[in-house]
Amino acid sequence: MARLETKERRTPPPFSGIASIAPDILLHALPHPVLVLRQDDRITYVNFAAEVFFGMSENVLRRRKAEALVAFASPLLALIAQVRQTNTAVNEYAVDLGMPDTASQRPVDVFAAPLPEYEGHIIVMLQQRSMAQMIERQLTHRGAARSVSGMAAVLAHEIKNPLSGIRGAAQLLEQGASLEDRPLAQLICRETDRICTLVDRMEVFGDERPLKLEPVNIHTVLDHVRQLALNGFGRGIVISQNYDPSLPPVPGNRDKLIQAFLNLVKNAAEAIGPGRNDGQIMLSTAFRPGLRISLPNSETRVSLPLEITVTDNGPGISDELKPHLFEPFVTTKAGGAGLGLALVAKIFGDHGGTIECETKARQTVFRAMMPMYQSADRRVKET
Ligand SMILES: Nc1ncnc2c1ncn2[C@@H]1O[C@H](COP(=O)(O)OP(=O)(O)O)[C@@H](O)[C@H]1O
Ligand SMILES: [Mg+2]
Repeated sequence: MARLETKERRTPPPFSGIASIAPDILLHALPHPVLVLRQDDRITYVNFAAEVFFGMSENVLRRRKAEALVAFASPLLALIAQVRQTNTAVNEYAVDLGMPDTASQRPVDVFAAPLPEYEGHIIVMLQQRSMAQMIERQLTHRGAARSVSGMAAVLAHEIKNPLSGIRGAAQLLEQGASLEDRPLAQLICRETDRICTLVDRMEVFGDERPLKLEPVNIHTVLDHVRQLALNGFGRGIVISQNYDPSLPPVPGNRDKLIQAFLNLVKNAAEAIGPGRNDGQIMLSTAFRPGLRISLPNSETRVSLPLEITVTDNGPGISDELKPHLFEPFVTTKAGGAGLGLALVAKIFGDHGGTIECETKARQTVFRAMMPMYQSADRRVKET
């Protein structure tokens, strides 16, 4: 047991194959928290990642029992009990540990197993789940937005110019055409107009200029979107608000944020559909300081503490559609362009934030996570 109980931070011997590396060094290099519990559930070993995860030093952690780290009813304790009872490894996925000291929820995958060499000892490894998934989603959304932006640039240059030529020619033909042929020329004009509108809608994706960001009170944005919805496409739906009034401003472009939330609320209203009289959409905000993610192509981790959610009680999104939700041209609607969520992903990406979706029957949540406006002395600009 001695090796597990003392954590020596000594200089490692020169690398000469796996046998020469002390297990300690390997465990400390792991990015996932690892704990070893004794027979009486007291912690006897933690790696560096566990110190970071629980926000306590090894010395503090080692005096504690597992039950002192997590909430009373935490599934972690039940899992440990199960390992003791069955003397076999138990894994559980997407467990909410219920940390008493932090406001943030931390869903993790838990792997727990007995240590046969040390009677009564259990090794527990945690894998921070939502973080990994979120980074993955973040990357895919950004990728999707990028692929549209490349395509948009090509479309704008290569299609719009010849289209205006075609349209002009059709107009000329229309003037000289017989009564019988005139509708055909008009059809060409109408259809080229339609393509032009689509290209115009795509053009926003090609705009790679950085946004000019200023402090925006997100609640005024949400209120504006709510008013637009209640007076238009969301008539008959209850749109409620659940705001954290102390939420600091976001670095934002007000118009773009309105556009993004309008798309989310419109999708929610369309999912609920016109036939229901119990439709509900909830706009919520919350401050979650614990959330940090890595951005693609960057070493730095950014904090995205402002959470804004749009929740509806529509039918939810199918498992097949879910992975492609934020890709362009993905739609299940007869007249849909499938560009709404691709645009939403681009807008939050341009704001240094991210968006993800959780869905089950009768509850779909689109969760935007955004950074905080940095300068403390600038006041929120109420527009
Ligand atoms: N809140 C929601 N509930 C259920 N399905 C949704 C929701 N939001 C989006 N979707 C699905 O995602 C698809 C893509 O949305 P979007 O990119 O806005 O394109 P469009 O609205 O033009 O179809 C929609 O067609 C719909 O199937
Ligand atoms: Mg839409």
